[in-house]
Amino acid sequence: MRSVRIALLTLAVVASALAWPAASASPGGPGGPGGRDVDAGRSHRRPQVDQPLRDLTRGTRLRIGTAVDMDALAADATYRDRIATEFNSVTAENVMKWETIEPVRGQLNFGPADELVNFARENGQQVRGHTLLWHNQLPAWLTQGVASGDITPGELRGILRRHVTDVVSHFRGRIYQWDVVNEVIDDNANLRDTLWLQQLGPGYIADVFRWARRADPRVKLYLNDYNVEGINAKSDAYHALAQELLDDRVPVDGMGIQGHLGVQFGFFPAGNVAQNLQRFEDLGLETAVTEADVRMLLPSDGVKLQAQAQGYDTLLQGCLLVRSCTSFTVWGFTDKYSWVPGFFAGEGAANLLDESFAPKPAYQAVQATLALGRPD
Ligand code: G3I
Repeated sequence: MRSVRIALLTLAVVASALAWPAASASPGGPGGPGGRDVDAGRSHRRPQVDQPLRDLTRGTRLRIGTAVDMDALAADATYRDRIATEFNSVTAENVMKWETIEPVRGQLNFGPADELVNFARENGQQVRGHTLLWHNQLPAWLTQGVASGDITPGELRGILRRHVTDVVSHFRGRIYQWDVVNEVIDDNANLRDTLWLQQLGPGYIADVFRWARRADPRVKLYLNDYNVEGINAKSDAYHALAQELLDDRVPVDGMGIQGHLGVQFGFFPAGNVAQNLQRFEDLGLETAVTEADVRMLLPSDGVKLQAQAQGYDTLLQGCLLVRSCTSFTVWGFTDKYSWVPGFFAGEGAANLLDESFAPKPAYQAVQATLALGRPD
């Protein structure tokens, strides 16, 4: 039944793409309701789509967001202005991670993160929290303390509880979705063998969700990972984990699919992304695309840029086809500031705008699909 619905919705999307511009252009315009003035239609078509992304989500439940590099936000006015203009949701790319929040044991540094929250408030944006628990970007005092045995498992559990409670309490009422645990399942679909699993056992995941809920009764609490965009062994493992946590009455509210794609690897079809998200919705969960980018082997060219546009569009359509998908976040929006070249030698150009903030085909594809609106 669901697949029929998704097929029908896909059809609806295509049908409305064909019908939309004419139908909704100038209902009260020169041609008046029902009477269409082709010129008016044509002249209306361009402005309707060519709007900032956040304006194209107006009146829908979807939030369109970006990760924010706080150094660039402070130093680059164009970067700052485009974030304010294009997005109604922001995620801290790095400054809400443990190594930044508590570089020295017991000394909390919320400064950079508070700057982002204040910027968001000034610009009518919501904030996604990223991330309460991860195996990367942990402070050295913690990893070295565990490695040396100075920090025992019992002490570590107390440290983790205090961290989750302090951070969630600090941002209570100012964050709408938290990535509570990030990347806890590995690419073989097993629980990732991290310091947390080794020291605390698999129960640490449920503990962190419960502590976060206690600290903020209203924020949406998410699982989040990469390579789970479509239906595969890893997303199957997340579906089973979510089911298990919910059976144990653990307060999980959502599943985040990161969406780090590569033109050279191809993409899951939009329908498969939608079916994957739909099965999490069927568990009663929200869903979100949390870190979309589509990298390519450099140099970029016309074909790669078109394929890139298809990659973004596949993720966005998959999200729009499922009612539970509440936010679509890109992991940076301009090639001027991107994590990709530093992590993948010879790759890059992963974002919607180029290094001069000029729109790429991917940006226009996202505009066009957002303009189609939601089929609900
Ligand atoms: O802050 C230091 C700075 O003091 C130092 O001078 C500089 C030079 O080494 O490094 C800076 O730290 C870098 C940090 O980003 C802040 O810019 C780290 O080296 C660098 O490793 C870190 O990279 C981040 C990466 O997570 C860490 O794994 C990326 O910016 C960030 O985009 C990336 O984001 C992750 C998500 O959190 C989870 N999903 C995957 C995604 C991409 O890897």
